[in-house]
Amino acid sequence: MADEKGFCLWFTGLSGSGKTTITNLLVRELRRRDSKLEVLDGDIVRENLSKGLGFSKEDRDINIRRIAFVADLLSRNGVPVITAAISPYRDIRDEARGMMGERFIEAYVEASVEACEERDTKGLYAKARSGEIKEFTGVSDPYEPPLSPEITVNTEDETAEESAQKIVAYLEERGFIPAAVAS
Ligand code: ADX
Repeated sequence: MADEKGFCLWFTGLSGSGKTTITNLLVRELRRRDSKLEVLDGDIVRENLSKGLGFSKEDRDINIRRIAFVADLLSRNGVPVITAAISPYRDIRDEARGMMGERFIEAYVEASVEACEERDTKGLYAKARSGEIKEFTGVSDPYEPPLSPEITVNTEDETAEESAQKIVAYLEERGFIPAAVAS
């Protein structure tokens, strides 16, 4: 689509908060609209672009800067990007915002540590509590929630579908994606 606007939907939230689940729903929704789209998911980026990095602040910052660099390249060329990394530090998220300006949409996936731990989809919270995993976000490492994100979705109160719909409505309203065509 020639008039497609690039943007970067930047998810931030704890491990298990629902970033990847919501991303997958958005991918389906945007494909339905024939939108171009690229996804940079934390777990996948860490298997290739950021392979070998750990979870110290230094390594997380490198990881996030790499994601922001790629997201900027794509979005400035009209490709919508969704990033789904914990991105726990406010200063580096703000750096990404500074790079991308109006194209940057910070989306806070809110869920308490207790709720994420209850889900423990990957079994990592149990390992963090037992000390098997060190520097685990929300347990033994900091998470700094955004102060004024463009969007907040709360996955304790909403289903993933509801959160995704809320984000789609926001993107439509801002003119970043075209309205859905009747199927
Ligand atoms: S970030 O902090 O650099 O943004 P990223 O989203 O890439 O993190 O990776 C987080 C994922 O790595 C988690 O969802 C989890 O599966 C895994 N992980 C392994 N160790 C840790 C840890 N110490 N803290 C957070 N996540 C971890």
